[in-house]
Amino acid sequence: MRIKTSLLALAGLGVASAANAEGPDFEKEIWPFVKNSCVECHTPEHKDERGRTRRPKGDLVITNKEAFMKGGEGGAVIVPGKPEDSPFLSRTKLPLDHDDHMPPEGKADQWTDAQKALFEAWVKAGANFGAWTSDPSVDKK
Ligand code: HEC
Repeated sequence: MRIKTSLLALAGLGVASAANAEGPDFEKEIWPFVKNSCVECHTPEHKDERGRTRRPKGDLVITNKEAFMKGGEGGAVIVPGKPEDSPFLSRTKLPLDHDDHMPPEGKADQWTDAQKALFEAWVKAGANFGAWTSDPSVDKK
């Protein structure tokens, strides 16, 4: 009986920590607003409709998981579990007129406070991309 109870307790713990580790659903809850505000300047190098070469700004590509986690010129932009060390979030929180603020003022929709909080919760929970590996609609090669 005692064994059974502790096994149940362990199983319960397992469920609870798995749920916490998952955090918000990247594809459903995070990617839509990231795509809307950030993708325009952070796609892989490609030619635009006029044949001009477009390079990812700051050398940062976010349209697939591998590149997103690799980061840009300055290194990693997302550090799982550490929102305060994740420039992809902290830059959105800088004053709007700060040089490093993202997205640059007037160039794309700013994240709302709710979106910043959601992104923070996602990083805190381990930056779990779930089944998402890329968004083919913008992951131009
Ligand atoms: C209109 C273009 C544009 C949009 C939209 C944009 N960025 Fe940027 N981003 C830049 C430019 C230009 C740089 C390089 C200069 C710099 O580091 O500030 C950059 C660099 C960065 C870097 C630093 C990369 C590195 O390693 O040096 C991060 C992090 C970043 N952007 C995050 C974001 C986030 C988050 C969003 C959306 C909320 C976003 N960007 C939207 C233009 C943009």
